[in-house]
Amino acid sequence: MHRDDQLKEILSPETIQARVKELGEEISRDYMGRSLVVIAILKGAFIFTADLSRHIKNPLQIDFVRLASYGSQTESLGKVSITKDIELDIKDRDVLVVEDLVDTGYTLKYLKELLELHSPASVKICCLIDKKERRQVPIDVDYIGFDIPRGFLVGYGLDFDEQYRNLPGIYHLNPGYEPKGFIPSDR
Ligand code: IMP
Ligand code: MG
Repeated sequence: MHRDDQLKEILSPETIQARVKELGEEISRDYMGRSLVVIAILKGAFIFTADLSRHIKNPLQIDFVRLASYGSQTESLGKVSITKDIELDIKDRDVLVVEDLVDTGYTLKYLKELLELHSPASVKICCLIDKKERRQVPIDVDYIGFDIPRGFLVGYGLDFDEQYRNLPGIYHLNPGYEPKGFIPSDR
């Protein structure tokens, strides 16, 4: 625990749960009569995926990827690589990528291009939080939980230095202080 960190709640556990349920219902309607492969991006999306998947009525399989990105502490170079690949066969399958937060967009752009190489029937993206204003590369996000323009966020899977993932709500870490181009540990 960072003793000096201050956390300001911006999304309560109840608010998150209500929105996750809505997203699950929307996804269930959109994929009616079809099965899907849900691909969660580790580590940040593990809690969101666990909750979201329980609100999706369709038959589904779940897989995980882990990505790493390179850059300095102050500047993202947008260089992403995969450190844990999918294990399921996604050829001709409808794929739903679940991400905690889209920031610059480099992570999802890289992953989407990588998944397309397996010739899936479709690839859609669902993210809990969108920081649209910070986008460096265009990326279509099909399902968005919340738009949150600024601040560094922790909780509900999101970490700072591997801390705070277990918090049930989402919080601004040290509000007012925004790490410039901070590169988190688990992209
Ligand atoms: P990007 O879209 O490639 O810039 O990277 C998005 C990834 O950076 C997400 O998967 C998060 O893990 C991480 N990230 C970006 N902003 C935050 C934040 O405010 N809190 C925690 N992680 C973040
Ligand atoms: Mg992440």
